[in-house]
Amino acid sequence: ARAQDLAGWRVVVSAGPTREYLDPVRFISNPSSGKMGYAVAEEARDRGADVTLVSGPVQLPPPAGVRTVPIESALELRAAVLEAARGADLVVMTAAVADYRAAEQAQEKQAKVAGDVTVHLTPNPDILAELGREKGDRLLVGFAMETHAGVERAAAKAARKNADFILLNYPTRQGTGFGGDDNEVTLVRPDGTSDAWARTSKREVARRLLDEARRLRD
Ligand code: C5P
Repeated sequence: ARAQDLAGWRVVVSAGPTREYLDPVRFISNPSSGKMGYAVAEEARDRGADVTLVSGPVQLPPPAGVRTVPIESALELRAAVLEAARGADLVVMTAAVADYRAAEQAQEKQAKVAGDVTVHLTPNPDILAELGREKGDRLLVGFAMETHAGVERAAAKAARKNADFILLNYPTRQGTGFGGDDNEVTLVRPDGTSDAWARTSKREVARRLLDEARRLRD
């Protein structure tokens, strides 16, 4: 039933971590593996969609038949996603975007000094929220990691960012989330309703995510 059901769709997926450089050789980042986003991109491709994958630095080969745009920083991710999102039917933000970047990025390697140093961080733009402000007919899907009050917080986030739904996952559960091949997620809608899915492969999560997007589009 799913075969080629996304033919004619333009799908944009962001994946992986961002790197926020402090100087040419040091950065702030996170352990996102990119596996969830790559699974969404590959599943959408196999169902006939035209797919753009905007990817932070990860240890995964670029999927065949997908337009992969490599980025490092949140600002680069933002530029690439906004560009690709023009005319897209669906944007899935799986990227683990750093919330902050260095207020000033040093052009030369900073030498070690005696004692403490202070780094001035400034907030990165929220790309999902930005897309939500000019939503049009585009479907918007986010991911969220929460350690507590997950469903409530994710529903509030979906509503605030104007996302159609958010997939909530937990950074602390064995074998899921960062790095693993499986994920245990709860689909959360802005109205507070949710569906908890038992632990399954990231590919199966991608399948169900796209099924839900299809249902919303019909
Ligand atoms: O607010 P929080 O970071 O938990 O929201 C998670 C969702 O928002 C993810 O889909 C993530 O890709 C997206 N996001 C974003 N820009 C940011 C931070 C998060 O698009 N600066």
